[in-house]
Amino acid sequence: MNYQQAYDKLEKCGQLHVLKYYEELTPEGKEALLSQVEGLDFSMTESCKHKEELTQKGKITPLSAMQLKEIAERKEEFMSAGLEAIRAGKVGAVLLAGGMGTRLGSDAPKGVYNIGLTKEVFIFQRLIENLLDVVHQADAWIHLFVMTSDKNHEATTAFFKEKNYFGYRPEYITFFMQEMAPATDYDGKVYLEAKDRISTSPNGNGGWFSSMMRWGVVDKIHEAGIEWLNVFAVDNVLQRIADPCFVGATILTDSDVGAKVVCKNAPDEKIGVICLEDERPSIVEYYELTEELMNAKDENGDPAYSFGVILNYLFREKALEEIVAKKLPLHIVEKKIPCLDEKGELIKPEEPNGYKYEQLVLDMIHQLDSCLPYEVERNYEFAPIKNKTGIDSVESARELCRKNGIEL
Ligand code: UTP
Repeated sequence: MNYQQAYDKLEKCGQLHVLKYYEELTPEGKEALLSQVEGLDFSMTESCKHKEELTQKGKITPLSAMQLKEIAERKEEFMSAGLEAIRAGKVGAVLLAGGMGTRLGSDAPKGVYNIGLTKEVFIFQRLIENLLDVVHQADAWIHLFVMTSDKNHEATTAFFKEKNYFGYRPEYITFFMQEMAPATDYDGKVYLEAKDRISTSPNGNGGWFSSMMRWGVVDKIHEAGIEWLNVFAVDNVLQRIADPCFVGATILTDSDVGAKVVCKNAPDEKIGVICLEDERPSIVEYYELTEELMNAKDENGDPAYSFGVILNYLFREKALEEIVAKKLPLHIVEKKIPCLDEKGELIKPEEPNGYKYEQLVLDMIHQLDSCLPYEVERNYEFAPIKNKTGIDSVESARELCRKNGIEL
């Protein structure tokens, strides 16, 4: 893209200030900025002006989950169907590791965080060990796809290599990168993080399948004959991945997606709740859950919205292809964004100073026709690491690992 084309593109979306320092830049700096302008989609920045309208929900009603008791009763049937699918190479796993993990407060990718106490135990290592359990149980390798972002791709791939993929076969691991979105002030004006660089952040975990398509990873999926993709977050160090029982239950109930859920530990726990929205499966984020829904009861008198998602979904790949062209809603999140001040000097704000723009994987659920909420025991399978201390932290995850006999 040349200067004039960049000028026109920026003018159209009210972002001409991006070129403020253009004349001062080296030829390389000019080229880098123009190419960043070319690659970025600025259309979303307008949305912050009507942000409340973006994620309005329809009519919410309960969606019952398949609970522990039923799963235990049908375990053999589910396990056998799940293992059969895994052995036939029909199941792949997708690790969402493109996030910034800002709450943890480390600049490195979250997965390289060492939660060990007497020895090194990295988050990535815990996940690979969990997946290896199934590889050994099924006696079949499972393709693992790892989503990174511009901010952590090099560090992530180098770490896996340095650690010898924690015993996983490298030919079964494929890395791909998600897209970035510009970060803006409260008026939707994009920030610069250097005179030749617009501030950007990963565009949320919702674009994982379209990024896989862009990277040609979906071709690999077709070649390998993968029909189901188990998408999971980087931060839950106890979760079971490609869990045969979950795979079997999702396949045998002929669902487009299975969603692992846990019974909430309090009506106001900060976790998205599985439900129906206008008769289709959906997830209501904890901050969208009204007091009325929080306390609603089902026909048996039990809490109607008591199952929360843990970001572990098994998607039917074909169903994803059908919905990939549909736009997911945009979530506009207030964040601290490093940026240039009036004098052109970089500042790292102590308080939020603008917005990041994200699409979320949980919104994909609403686009699918059927969803199986599948209950897992939270003490065995839910140890998310979001913070350093307190709730959902390194500390709480260590305690849960200890209870599960995992040496740290
Ligand atoms: P979180 O919502 O916890 O976001 O991500 P985060 O960016 O990792 O952490 P904070 O909010 O800055 O502290 C849930 C999962 O989605 C992935 C994360 O890596 C994590 O596995 N994710 C998030 C992406 O892959 N890309 C994104 O753009 C955002």
